[in-house]
Amino acid sequence: MSVNIAIDGPAGAGKSTIAKKVASKLSFIYVDTGAMYRAMALHLLKQNVSLEDAKAISQSCQSAHISIVYDGGEQQVILNGENVTSMLRTESVGNMASVSSANPDVRAKLVSLQQELAASANVVMDGRDIGTVVLPKAQVKVYLTASSHTRALRRYKELLEKKEECELEAIEADIIDRDYRDMHREISPLRQAEDAVLVDSSDMTIEEVVNTIITLYDKAR
Ligand code: DC
Repeated sequence: MSVNIAIDGPAGAGKSTIAKKVASKLSFIYVDTGAMYRAMALHLLKQNVSLEDAKAISQSCQSAHISIVYDGGEQQVILNGENVTSMLRTESVGNMASVSSANPDVRAKLVSLQQELAASANVVMDGRDIGTVVLPKAQVKVYLTASSHTRALRRYKELLEKKEECELEAIEADIIDRDYRDMHREISPLRQAEDAVLVDSSDMTIEEVVNTIITLYDKAR
């Protein structure tokens, strides 16, 4: 049986950085489910589907063929035969993903793909509903969070390093908005699974968080 580690939490909590490191230490596959929702959003944008048209989202998502491959250990997302990995982290894709990920047909399609991946390999999977919906039987479940201020500050520093103009207050307001949307949507809202361990990384280093999760895994074995 494959071993599954589920990491959920709000945007900017450091899930992908941590999940990647945990996966590499354990020689597991890292699955970034947010990238799948982003690929679906890109498909909808390519089809000129409006953010407000729920019916069109339900219909159009059926023609998206999304798969995951690994290149040098890095996840690559293939959308209808095209590697779209480098196109997923834009503002417009993020905004569409935030809306379209609340659509039940989009979720049904991507959740079954995620479950197939986790059944066939040892995975560290991160997202919003991994411990609650996708992998309710995961051997290790972590709810990784940090204060909105800490998360905004991390993002602010990242953008400054890329020499992008930004304002800390606006970033924090955006994070608070996204948290609200993710936690209050009708279907699969972001919440801590009852059996998940809460890890608040506000005052922790990356290494400390990684070691905390590895210790949880060692205990679960
Ligand atoms: O983590 P991210 O920013 O790449 O996620 C993109 C969007 O997809 C975000 O609005 C949350 C949503 N998402 C989701 O609903 N369920 C998941 N398992 C992962 C992401």
